[in-house]
Amino acid sequence: MAYETLIIEKRGAVGLITLNRPHALNALNSILMHEMEEALARFHEDDAIGAIVLTGSEKAFAAGADIKEMKDLSFTDAYLGDLMAGWDRIAASRKPMIAAVSGFALGGGCELAMMCDFIIAADNAKFGQPEITLGIMPGMGGSQRLTRAVGKSKAMDMALTGRMMDAVEAERAGLVSRIVPVDKLLEEALAAAAKIAGFSRPAVLMTKESVNRALETTLAEGVRFERRLFHALFATEDQKEGMAAFVEKRKPAFRNL
Ligand code: HXC
Repeated sequence: MAYETLIIEKRGAVGLITLNRPHALNALNSILMHEMEEALARFHEDDAIGAIVLTGSEKAFAAGADIKEMKDLSFTDAYLGDLMAGWDRIAASRKPMIAAVSGFALGGGCELAMMCDFIIAADNAKFGQPEITLGIMPGMGGSQRLTRAVGKSKAMDMALTGRMMDAVEAERAGLVSRIVPVDKLLEEALAAAAKIAGFSRPAVLMTKESVNRALETTLAEGVRFERRLFHALFATEDQKEGMAAFVEKRKPAFRNL
């Protein structure tokens, strides 16, 4: 299928999605949201794909939801159309997703990056929730995910003043996992994704599920949830293979079984 707003590629076991609305700094419109849902569904159905990288251009990961598309909406348009709800399905992706962010990740762009499992930032990355400057507020999870990522004080600062933070501040605050030179961004993100895709898929998906549970539940429940998944992995052949390979001093050959 041909996409209007995305470039979809397979790089070995990694699915690569590049946002492609350069004239609008990759502003997220409804076509893009639907195309992303479709592309992700295909990568999820494809057993050969073990991880996904989401990226934009050097100037902009995404400069937000498309203001031109939203500006004339009424409350009932937004409410009855459940504006932005489709992004929840994207956030629910089971396979690991890495956001490779260069340039602006603002508003919905920052929120989209935060829907991914982790963010690798280029040294020119800029993050922000500037919705307040438009008379609105974050609507794709920013007030929740940013607060969980960086804590209340910095999340309030970002969302109430609309200021941007650079890659160094974002890494210090825990929003991004690492910073790389802009010309190495895609290479590093693809390498991280390929590494993940090479591990046992049940172990990868359960690890993701368990870390995400930490944001949803109490410590005692989360630890219990983790232990159940941990025990379950002893039912996999990959656990036998991984541990046998360690003892035999060879590389494991995981088969997702
Ligand atoms: C639609 C956008 C856009 C956006 C940029 N463009 N951001 N179009 N929606 N979010 C368009 C511009 O209108 C312009 O089109 C072209 O992209 C290039 O942008 P410039 O502004 O000329 O570039 P520059 O001067 O380099 O400034 C870059 C920028 C600025 C600082 C990122 O574009 C900017 O402030 N953008 C808006 C950021 C923002 O407020 N994001 C939050 C959106 S609300 P033309 O046709 O003029 O060339 C949101 C809500 C999410 O995300 C929650 C869900 C409801």
